[in-house]
Amino acid sequence: MKHLLKLGDLSSREITDILNLADQLKFEKYHGERKPYLGGKTLGMIFTKASTRTRVSFEVGMYQLGGNALFLSGSEMQIGRGEPAEDTARVLSKYLDGIMIRTYKQSEVEKLAEFSDIPVINGLTDYCHPCQVLADLMTIRERKGSFKGKKLTFIGDGNNMANSLIVGAVKTGMEIAVACPKGYEPDAEIIKWGTQNGKVTITDDVKAAAEGADVMYTDVWASMGQEGEAELRKQKFKGFCIDSELMKLAKKDAMVLHCLPAHRGEEITAEVLEAHADEIFAEAENRLHAQKAVMVTLMGGKK
Ligand code: CP
Ligand code: NVA
Repeated sequence: MKHLLKLGDLSSREITDILNLADQLKFEKYHGERKPYLGGKTLGMIFTKASTRTRVSFEVGMYQLGGNALFLSGSEMQIGRGEPAEDTARVLSKYLDGIMIRTYKQSEVEKLAEFSDIPVINGLTDYCHPCQVLADLMTIRERKGSFKGKKLTFIGDGNNMANSLIVGAVKTGMEIAVACPKGYEPDAEIIKWGTQNGKVTITDDVKAAAEGADVMYTDVWASMGQEGEAELRKQKFKGFCIDSELMKLAKKDAMVLHCLPAHRGEEITAEVLEAHADEIFAEAENRLHAQKAVMVTLMGGKK
């Protein structure tokens, strides 16, 4: 494993290894010795989209691992004025030990990795959000004990989160049901791969998807970059909301996850969010531990 560009590039074993290391790093943070696995190393973090969790968890994560992180705003870098990704990658490879990038196009991240001598980590594109799903899987395993026989239900837009959740569920052996309005389905190639390799259902029937779920998951109706469609999407996505009525169809002990930021009253009600705040904010915390595991794995730290 040289980069983390999308979950589909990782084997089930590699995902399990990252989750095990994430658990170990979480334990060490609270109960053991914090070791400088990445002492003296620097991560560059390129952002061309907004972020709270990703930025802070990567920066704090590097600090806790004995290294350093640089926030690089895409709009203030030459890449924002048209310097090609292939030149940016070769220059940054001379200074840094790793690059985390959050941007629009997956192809830009792939291009950066192709020309980079150092690991590239995808911190979200329009296509996928692998770091988030590693944290989600960590949270599910932590709370449910294992993935075996579990059903994950995603309600909402077939976006970057839905794409990565399908891959994450299939790779860990969970069943996944995605309920989205017609025309807003996840990536067609991912659906094809998922149905060939696991138990994946795509439907516009929210109730059928929620039936018997162990984990209920949702995300915003309009992602970053889709602000102009927000009003239209409010019409199209009406009913694609996790509320207490829908929760009655899931298992009694079902968890609720949300990658955040949340729009109460749209994809989730305030009532459900607050009733499951413990899980949702533990999920946000696990971004830190999961990403530390990714960085230690990729950036050459000793375990
Ligand atoms: N979930 C997530 O990636 O949050 P941010 O956009 O705040 O980084
Ligand atoms: N789908 C959302 C996820 C935010 C973490 C977006 O891309 O804006």
